[in-house]
Amino acid sequence: MRTTFSLTLLVWLGAAVAGAGCGFIGEPPPPVGRAALPALPGQSSGVFTTARPTVAAAFSDFFGRRAAPQQPLEFPHNIHVSKEITCVTCHEGVETGARAGIPGLRTCMVCHAAIATDRPRIQQITKMQDDGRDLAWQRVFGYTAEAHVRFNHAPHIRAKVECKTCHGDIGSQTVAQRNVELTMGTCVTCHREHNAPTGCLTCHF
Ligand code: HEC
Ligand code: HEC
Ligand code: HEC
Ligand code: HEC
Ligand code: HEC
Repeated sequence: MRTTFSLTLLVWLGAAVAGAGCGFIGEPPPPVGRAALPALPGQSSGVFTTARPTVAAAFSDFFGRRAAPQQPLEFPHNIHVSKEITCVTCHEGVETGARAGIPGLRTCMVCHAAIATDRPRIQQITKMQDDGRDLAWQRVFGYTAEAHVRFNHAPHIRAKVECKTCHGDIGSQTVAQRNVELTMGTCVTCHREHNAPTGCLTCHF
């Protein structure tokens, strides 16, 4: 376990208890305690700082904003889902583990060695495979390392939470879009409604 985050948790909890006098509800408390913690070398301090390439980058980093990802290929979710290819065909880990996984070229070519070989985009990926390159997908969902969030798909799929609840209607999109914000409030609210655990260490490390 990372001691720094435990420390952060203690500071937060301390602030929550000292401040409101009760457990905090849903939303993370305002960033008071955090600023007091000195950052270790190479670690984000959680304090606004201009130690970033540009001031804009510092702002984005501080507010956890990220640029829309630029994918190496416009991957059409809609076409594949309309052919009744299931999510788990490509996101193989989603039912059994923490990570869903994002398919690389080898998975594409299981089908596209034979399917739609006359289309430009398929010829493009076939050429990439011949050149020994892979598709460097950029992440759409996911947390920064500093958030120290622990997520696990499998228990949600077992509990019959749909992909749509957390990711929106990916099946009608081309490249995946981040139309749902998975804030701590979203997670905790549903956990309360379903009697799922709400201890800090359920979702943090
Ligand atoms: C399980 C089989 C399967 C897998 C795996 C698969 N595809 Fe497809 N893909 C299809 C089918 C079926 C179509 C529809 C072809 C048609 O229009 O007849 C399609 C269509 C496409 C098209 C649209 C082609 C066009 O321009 O009309 C693209 C692009 C594509 N796939 C890319 C990919 C990529 C990239 C991957 C890997 C990340 C991938 N596919 C994995 C079956 C698959
Ligand atoms: C309870 C909410 C929730 C549900 C339900 C859910 N996801 Fe996710 N998914 C997430 C979160 C949160 C992340 C980011 C996790 C991280 O980066 O730590 C994620 C990440 C992903 C990723 C990125 C790769 C990875 O392995 O992290 C894929 C792909 C994905 N989900 C697919 C799916 C599919 C397919 C389903 C349905 C079968 C699904 N998800 C259901 C919340 C959910
Ligand atoms: C034929 C393969 C294929 C199928 C079927 C498929 N996906 Fe994907 N998925 C991909 C690829 C390739 C990417 C990376 C490109 C992108 O982000 O659009 C991706 C990205 C995603 C992401 C964003 C992951 C991240 O955090 O970067 C989510 C969420 C996701 N898919 C959910 C789904 C859901 C839900 C379904 C079923 C409705 C589904 N996918 C079906 C191939 C597939
Ligand atoms: C729509 C409802 C819903 C949302 C949203 C949701 N969860 Fe869950 N989660 C559940 C349910 C239900 C379970 C319990 C399944 C069980 O009892 O096995 C669960 C279980 C978990 C577990 C496993 C807990 C354990 O120890 O068994 C983790 C970790 C988790 N969720 C993290 C998250 C995170 C992080 C988020 C936000 C990104 C999130 N969940 C959003 C419904 C949800
Ligand atoms: C059900 C899951 C869940 C539980 C339980 C949970 N959190 Fe969170 N928490 C999250 C998620 C997800 C985020 C990240 C939100 C984001 O980045 O948008 C987060 C963010 C945070 C942050 C902000 C981190 C940062 O770097 O900005 C703090 C602090 C925090 N949580 C503290 C707590 C404390 C203290 C508890 C226990 C009272 C707790 N969390 C319980 C899911 C959870």
